[in-house]
Amino acid sequence: MTQELEQLRERALADLEQAETPEALEAWRVAYLGRSGEVTLSLRGIGQLPPEERPAAGQMANQVRLQLTEAYETRQATLETAALDESLRAEALDVRLPGRPPSLGYLHVITQVLREIYTIFGQMGFHVYRSPEVEDDVTNFQMLNIPPHHPARDMWSTFHTTDAGVLLRTHTSPGQIHAMRAYHPEPFRVILPGKCYRYEQVTTRSEHMFYQVEGLAIGQNITMADLKGVLESFVKEMFGPERKLRFRASYFPFTEPSAEVDVDCILCEGEGCQLCKHSGWLEVLGCGMVHPTVLRNGGYDPEAYTGLAFGMGPERLAMLKYGIPDIRLFYSNDLRFLRQFA
Ligand code: DAH
Repeated sequence: MTQELEQLRERALADLEQAETPEALEAWRVAYLGRSGEVTLSLRGIGQLPPEERPAAGQMANQVRLQLTEAYETRQATLETAALDESLRAEALDVRLPGRPPSLGYLHVITQVLREIYTIFGQMGFHVYRSPEVEDDVTNFQMLNIPPHHPARDMWSTFHTTDAGVLLRTHTSPGQIHAMRAYHPEPFRVILPGKCYRYEQVTTRSEHMFYQVEGLAIGQNITMADLKGVLESFVKEMFGPERKLRFRASYFPFTEPSAEVDVDCILCEGEGCQLCKHSGWLEVLGCGMVHPTVLRNGGYDPEAYTGLAFGMGPERLAMLKYGIPDIRLFYSNDLRFLRQFA
């Protein structure tokens, strides 16, 4: 019996060496140590031996069972370690790879131009005053000296709403009335930036929605010389100190006198080219001295106060500054265009 047990042990240990997978290991356990495994059966068979052989055989069988159980556990641990090593090797994560940077947003080119305008006027003591995009006919036109049926209304094709007299502002000039009423009777300087809307044919030069930045300074000794000085400083900051300005007489109902400001063409420097339509000049904004009627509508006495005003289109300024040929590019969300200003 002891010899048989000895052989059983040797065979079992040799078999165990061959078990390379968890499945093979489990099959081995069932075959030797399971309920009807060979070791279990030989332990049970001890009762059939003659009484004098039982103690030695019993002892040996128990020893074999113990040894094989230990060998099984060792083998199991070895296989588990090998499996873990293998999975660590196969699923290795190379932490030396550079990280993937999250993509960052950036400001729209018009936002950038607006901020540049705020900075330049901020340095001259103007601060930003916000006024509504939805206006009434009175503030958008009448308070600005444009009565109903006045032919000057043709300059502003208007989006009306179904509420009588309620419209989308066609320019930022109604903000002048809001600002004057908020500040009077004090002197003040503001810029009024924001979106405006016009019911017009969309072309390379006009959109339904666009920005304007209005400027307004009210005080007791403001003259046309201040208007020229402020706008000259602005244009030179925006387009470079070498730029020349031209004030050309014009007409707006809310200013008197009125002018339009041109800069010498940034492309041909006044020689004449396609951009300036061979005139050598580019129109950049409208301006003037605030009309006495408008001052009065804002709450100021035109005998004591004067004011300067101007209005410009940031899209137009950006087109001139960066040589952009089509205004529709700004709001058509083409990233190939927008990314150039990142
Ligand atoms: N509101 C005018 C427009 O939309 C622009 C303008 C011209 C504004 C002259 C002014 C100004 O304040 O003085 O065409």
